[in-house]
Amino acid sequence: MTRAIIIDTDPGQDDAVAILLALAANDALDVRGIVAVAGNVPLSLTQANARRLVDSAGRADVPVYAGCARPMVQPLRTAEYVHGQSGINGYDWPDPVAPLQDLHGVDFIIESLLAADDKEITLCALGPLTNIAMALVKVPECARGIREIVMMGGGFFTGGNTTPAAEFNILVDPHAAHVVFESGLPLTLMPLDVTHQALVTKERIAPFAAMNTRCGDACAGMFGFFNRFDSEKYGAEGAPLHDPCVIAYLLEPSLFSGKNIPVKIDIAPGLTLGMTVMDWWGVTDDAANCMVMNKIDADGYFALLTKMIGRLP
Ligand code: RIB
Ligand code: CA
Repeated sequence: MTRAIIIDTDPGQDDAVAILLALAANDALDVRGIVAVAGNVPLSLTQANARRLVDSAGRADVPVYAGCARPMVQPLRTAEYVHGQSGINGYDWPDPVAPLQDLHGVDFIIESLLAADDKEITLCALGPLTNIAMALVKVPECARGIREIVMMGGGFFTGGNTTPAAEFNILVDPHAAHVVFESGLPLTLMPLDVTHQALVTKERIAPFAAMNTRCGDACAGMFGFFNRFDSEKYGAEGAPLHDPCVIAYLLEPSLFSGKNIPVKIDIAPGLTLGMTVMDWWGVTDDAANCMVMNKIDADGYFALLTKMIGRLP
């Protein structure tokens, strides 16, 4: 029995690896569609990058949609300084062949959820939460079709990566994150606290380069580019591989552990805008609303990635 998912994403090298992982796992995941959102780079690029990835994986059966071009309230903030101008620098990507669907990505999410059985579809959020929040605001009853929302975002003990308090995906659209975290839906979060335990070291890149496949070469090249910024910033031997944690959790949940706790989003202008305020020690009477992962078997994670990407052309 495969698990139905929709991937919402702002490719981004780590998004790209997450998407390839999902597309490789067609025996476990039924990828209903990929929806691009503005984030790491503008929407015109994130949608084209998502199309390049379905081409690269030989999965033209998976439709790609463009969602929102800007956050719900704030102006768009992008991260070319991390990901390069294209968003997936590090590999010589051909122009995309897979078509962009005409339907707006938010409407695809809504229509998919309305047509689904109760709790049928898992939303995998790899970027700012704009599209998912807009779907919940536009047609609240579509929530019925959501099994779980698994997100990469936020940080607590690790702090932020874009401001001292805020992680990029949440900071880009804190109001969208507020809508999602207040939705009452089953939420699972991969914050920086867990992704920073999964560093792309040279030893972990080597097997991808040895695959002699276009997807293996793309991952090895993107890892090399993606590493340069974060390993210098953190003085680490590799960059944290954020977004594939979301997909790895669906494939091998035992790689992760965490705690079901209250998480609120700071939407007030100021120093802590976009902070994921986590009541890790239960000091409030707030109800738990999110399963927050804080531990990962990093070797197991990269073994899974290597095995699955090795399936691709
Ligand atoms: O902070 C890391 C997150 O922001 C990742 O999803 C990365 O792709 C960027 O979107
Ligand atoms: Ca991302």
